[in-house]
Amino acid sequence: FTDVRYGVRRLAFSTVTKEDLKFLESLLPDRAVTDPDLLEASNVDWLRTVRGRSQLLLRPRNTEEVSQILRYCNDRNLAVNPQGGNTGLVGGSVPVFDEIIISTAQMNSIIDFNPNSGVLICQSGCILENLNGYLEAQDFIMPLDLGAKGSCHIGGNLATNAGGLRLLRYGSLHGTVLGLEAVLADGTVLNCLAPLRKDNTGYDLKQLFIGAEGTLGIITAVSILCPRKPRSVNLALLGCDRFDQILSIFNQCKGMLGEILSAFEFLDQSCREVVQEHLKLANPLQEKPFYILVETSGSNANHDQEKLNQFLEEVMTSGLVAEGTVATEERKIKALWGLREGITEALSHDGYIYKYDISLPLEKIYDIVVDMRERLGDKAKRVVGYGHIGDGNLHLNIVSPAHDHQLLAAIEPYVYEWTAKYSGSISAEHGLGFKKKDFIYYSKSKEAVQIMQQMKLMLDPKGILNPYKTLPSPSQNSASS
Ligand code: FAD
Ligand code: MLT
Ligand code: ZN
Repeated sequence: FTDVRYGVRRLAFSTVTKEDLKFLESLLPDRAVTDPDLLEASNVDWLRTVRGRSQLLLRPRNTEEVSQILRYCNDRNLAVNPQGGNTGLVGGSVPVFDEIIISTAQMNSIIDFNPNSGVLICQSGCILENLNGYLEAQDFIMPLDLGAKGSCHIGGNLATNAGGLRLLRYGSLHGTVLGLEAVLADGTVLNCLAPLRKDNTGYDLKQLFIGAEGTLGIITAVSILCPRKPRSVNLALLGCDRFDQILSIFNQCKGMLGEILSAFEFLDQSCREVVQEHLKLANPLQEKPFYILVETSGSNANHDQEKLNQFLEEVMTSGLVAEGTVATEERKIKALWGLREGITEALSHDGYIYKYDISLPLEKIYDIVVDMRERLGDKAKRVVGYGHIGDGNLHLNIVSPAHDHQLLAAIEPYVYEWTAKYSGSISAEHGLGFKKKDFIYYSKSKEAVQIMQQMKLMLDPKGILNPYKTLPSPSQNSASS
């Protein structure tokens, strides 16, 4: 088999035979899908830029079924592609060739919630928004929030180590996830689910699976520490003239809002325009080159509002902020968040997107957007910058009417070289997936990647778990490091 797609050669895995299908259908009655129409959505990624050609989608309901599937696939040397809500942005969630898709969509039960400890234990296919709704009814919330909450699964969030809008306050999943259960390539069930805050007995194996993008095991269950639902939430949308003002405002914010600061996000004018154009969301402020969203979450409305008002007075009288609006009621808060959370969807209606998700020192973070605009000129339809300033994470997105090789050559590897020059990360929160795996050396040393490869070999010797993803292709050397 010499099929070559995207310049990648299919590895020597077996192909699904009638006998394989018979076995898997008997294991999962009515949940082994072969209908091409039903398979279409699972073969294409959210951005519609990567398409696989799998002919089989499996929908297990529990860990035991996942274990039996993997034991069988490993014995038969059949490659698999774990899939959650398929909202990933780096092409990791869809097959490259004919890998069998293993979806967690039917693994969506909540196993336990303990209001004393705040620990939620659930299956990995639970949708993030549903978990948050369940918790809110009990006065708790999930420690992460992202624009894809209505579709993404908690297992997918762990597999990508998703960051999102609340990381500034509640930290990364490496801290909030207390335990997980994963099934290894050979079907072994690894139970590291114990929901302990403190546990220093040996290596912390669960951390390996957080951010591994399904290449080391399939996460089947999660225990996660959830904060209390804040009693008072305020959201301010502020407009300002220059990017350096955003950094001064952020510094003021940390000093004056302290423990109640729960998000600090930014978008530039071009993002605001695209959201208005494609989602019809109007600007409540006058046109400004930059906008910031500052959220506070606390336990005392009077105290929080007083602090926020003092902060706003300070940044407005000092001229850092030109104009602003504050929301305290849920409906208005949601509407303001829509301007930020809607950017990803709005851009997807604007054309073909080249997406970059980079960590950079704060002082340098917007320079790459300015530089890229100058560099690309008319070649690009739009160059925008937005992201999680509070976490040092910029989303640089470049739009063109259609996929354009010349434009791509002008962007890559330039953007990665630029990031490496300032010791940034070429993937802050989305992962490497299929699209970025060969650029890993811009952010990780040869030695570090070698250990990753050894770990992969130890846990998945045949390489059946999400092949062609995360780790560089064997042909790729570390010359760029
Ligand atoms: P999928 O897309 O299905 O899969 C993602 C990766 O995880 C794939 O490699 C897949 O093989 C693997 N995987 C999935 N489930 C499992 C499992 N159970 N076990 C092992 N591997 C598995 N990301 C951020 O970090 N921050 C954001 O703010 C953010 N906002 C977003 C907004 C929008 C509108 C969209 C479309 C995406 C956004 N993302 C964001 C991208 C983000 O990676 C995903 O939304 C989310 O974390 C992926 O979850 P999923 O269930 O959709 O996983
Ligand atoms: C976001 O912060 O909006 C997400 O990471 C998605 C994106 O980068 O578009
Ligand atoms: Zn993001």
